[in-house]
Amino acid sequence: MQRRLLITGGAGFIGSNFVHHWCETYPSDRVVVLDALTYAGNRATLNDLDSHDNFRFVQGDICDRPMVDQLLAEEQINTVAHFAAESHVDRSILGPDAFIRTNVVGTFTLLEAFRHHWTGRGQLESDRFLHVSTDEVYGSLEADDPAFSETTPYAPNSPYSASKAGSDHLARAYFHTYGMPTLVTNCSNNYGPYHFPEKLIPLMCINILLGKPLPVYGDGQNIRDWLYVKDHCTALDVVIHKGQTGETYNVGGNNEVKNIDLVHMLCDLMDDLAPNLPVRPSRQLITFVKDRAGHDRRYAIDANKIKTQLGWTPSVTVDEGLRQTIEWFLSHEEWWQPLLSEDYQAYYQKVYA
Ligand code: NAD
Ligand code: DAU
Repeated sequence: MQRRLLITGGAGFIGSNFVHHWCETYPSDRVVVLDALTYAGNRATLNDLDSHDNFRFVQGDICDRPMVDQLLAEEQINTVAHFAAESHVDRSILGPDAFIRTNVVGTFTLLEAFRHHWTGRGQLESDRFLHVSTDEVYGSLEADDPAFSETTPYAPNSPYSASKAGSDHLARAYFHTYGMPTLVTNCSNNYGPYHFPEKLIPLMCINILLGKPLPVYGDGQNIRDWLYVKDHCTALDVVIHKGQTGETYNVGGNNEVKNIDLVHMLCDLMDDLAPNLPVRPSRQLITFVKDRAGHDRRYAIDANKIKTQLGWTPSVTVDEGLRQTIEWFLSHEEWWQPLLSEDYQAYYQKVYA
């Protein structure tokens, strides 16, 4: 069957990687991207797809119900892959409003619109609504705790993770109450091409290139489980095609790394790969700064369910993935340089001054 996808947030980091993955893997499927182009969305990331027959980009807000209704109907959408969100924890601490609006109200708007559309289509069993979420909904682990599984109770700690938790519950409820074919994925930290500069890995790479301080929060001992973004895309592909509706799947990289160790790896790789660094060795730039409020100590994902039930495992090691990511940032300065705008500098001042 031809999948006709509505991909929300497709101009952001993971969404754009997923759009490229889908258009390359399934060229005869229809791909419609809906993205509001907030500070985190970048139309240029999708420019190469404008010549693709089955690709369409629509600038719009997921909270705009009449527009979403019209798009679902006119494109005869049978699959929603919902990435659109406010995604940065530090911004949610500075101003949570947009997080509640987009992540909770926006997800609710999409679910409601799709429920009416799906009902009008005769509640087809092959339709899908994939809600892309995060491991942060499970809260924070101590050093010896077992990794998050799908049955770990929710305990979100930031306005961002609380808003994602709310949207996960809505997606689950739409299956339970209406039988709507929803699926939820909870994934660990992604990295790779098209990652917005505010997040740890691109921020460190760009600051090394500019000879700026590398701000490590607190004692640098917080742990994240890193997954190369292209592996996340293959996991979502498998969940759409083979996942059991109403189910949740955890997605992770089996790559738990302390922040300070990750920053050391990035510094050493940059020293190796970048020819003209203003400061070398880059480790000299590391600066410990005030900790993030409510900073979660450790995330780790138990991805056994998606492995045993759907046959997915990550394929890229953190060493390979970081090298590829650095090479991408080194050869795509025209992509990231314009993102260091006045607005971005103002945000940077607020967080790091
Ligand atoms: P991102 O911030 O890079 O991109 C978000 C995109 O959503 C942007 O293109 C933005 O313009 C768009 N958007 C925001 N508000 C919108 C609205 N109201 N209407 C339409 N579009 C809107 O985010 P990302 O890192 O690519 O994350 C994508 C999804 O994956 C999010 O739901 C996030 O919670 C989840 N996730 C992210 C990670 C990660 O490590 N980045 C890990 C697990 C899950
Ligand atoms: O776990 C999945 C989540 O990963 C996603 O849901 C979020 O959308 C995504 O932003 C990411 O959240 P984190 O807060 O873990 O990612 P971030 O890159 O902001 O930070 C990673 C770690 O690095 C975290 O412990 C905070 C720390 N950090 C971050 C920045 C930006 C620093 O020490 N210094 C920094 O300047």
